[in-house]
Amino acid sequence: MDKFVIRGGNPLLGTIRVSGAKNAALPAMAAAILTDEPVILENIPDVRDIQTERNLLVSMGAEVELGYGRAHHRTTISCKNLLNPEAAYELVKTMRASTLVLGPLVARMKRARVSLPGGCAIGARPIDLHIKGLEKLGAIIAQEHGYIEARAERLQGGHIIFDKITVTGTEDLMMAATLAEGETLMENCAREPEVSDLAALLNKMGARIEGAGTSAIRIQGVDKLRGARYRIIPDRIEAGTFVIAGALTGGDLIVSNCEPRHLGALLQKLDECGVKTKTNGDSVRVMGDNPLMAADISTEEYPGFPTDMQAQYMALATQAEGSSVVTENIFENRFMHAYELVRMGANVKVEGSRAVVRGRSPLSGAAVQCSDLRASASLVLAALVAEGETIIDRVYHVDRGYERIEEKLRGVGAQIRRIGEILPRKTVAPLATA
Ligand code: UD1
Repeated sequence: MDKFVIRGGNPLLGTIRVSGAKNAALPAMAAAILTDEPVILENIPDVRDIQTERNLLVSMGAEVELGYGRAHHRTTISCKNLLNPEAAYELVKTMRASTLVLGPLVARMKRARVSLPGGCAIGARPIDLHIKGLEKLGAIIAQEHGYIEARAERLQGGHIIFDKITVTGTEDLMMAATLAEGETLMENCAREPEVSDLAALLNKMGARIEGAGTSAIRIQGVDKLRGARYRIIPDRIEAGTFVIAGALTGGDLIVSNCEPRHLGALLQKLDECGVKTKTNGDSVRVMGDNPLMAADISTEEYPGFPTDMQAQYMALATQAEGSSVVTENIFENRFMHAYELVRMGANVKVEGSRAVVRGRSPLSGAAVQCSDLRASASLVLAALVAEGETIIDRVYHVDRGYERIEEKLRGVGAQIRRIGEILPRKTVAPLATA
């Protein structure tokens, strides 16, 4: 298993480039199921979750070309001959977003068999709202042997009011409704930029979706969708992680190729912490020359402070003067990183859904291990300012969602290297997380 060895203390200087958004690429790849024509997606990140999704689509009979480097991070997906509309447990347990194929499969193939994901490292994360929504669109759903089996001759438009805001739930049902007969109105939808990005792709494929990015989405069903070429948005979580890295290390870093408008809640919070940032087109410059000050955060659905940035923010809070209260409202068990940060010298007390971070604590290098994707990013950040050497184990969690993070960070002055056997990319992580 690979590990990172990080020696802290270097300010990050220079320009670091952001990859395409994993969480936009995953639903976009699932959207290819909705048509028998090829879908070409650009700005696809070279991360393990994308390989998992490719394996999933291939297991159903899809042809998926995935090219990196000179091929410009592009994938071409053809779902002309889908023979096996099933997402097996082996794949779903490694990546919960596999359940995004449920809606598209029922809509185009009239049936789907998708493993239930079960629990994961950050919480229960059921998919009951996906199922309830599909039933509203007329699907007949049964649960057997840990699988959801859904059938519908043709889905019918319907009125879905989500009990709770769900990102992949909104995406799954939006995809399903594109091929339903008649109009679907979905309310209390997720407003994340990844939802809007998916709607833009679907509309390019011939769907008729209005309102994506707001809490009410209206979809006029069509008989058929066509192929399209589409460029995925930049990854706002990777961008945010790098912005925090610049601030934390007292560096002067330009985070390029990102969409600053998607970083609003984070940049506003960093301003409160005394971090200077400047946005310019598609980049954010972060100047970490001021002392950091404590500030509370509370995770919320977009446009609130993202739960996917909570762990990284906690690493920053350990270096801020004063107490920061971090409240996690989206997932029930998302503080695994806190215990590892404590091993590095942080003062963090977790009480239910709140963690109180008292700073500033000098951190010292230690052996720590990743529990999930964003928790691992938090440990990398902490290691960048720790005294001495930190060895981070289980970095396959990082590789699920960050493209060659060690190379990118080394390019701006971090002392970080990967050690251990280089596993083939298709070997996947045993824990499913965000
Ligand atoms: C997506 C993101 C993930 C991010 C999360 C919240 C992808 C691939 N993943 O995950 O990185 O952390 O949004 O921003 O885009 N819930 C239910 N029933 C359901 C669905 C969700 O109770 O059927 C609950 C979840 O347990 C959670 C909350 O709703 O407490 C929000 O989850 P959701 O938005 O669905 O997260 P994901 O879409 O899985």
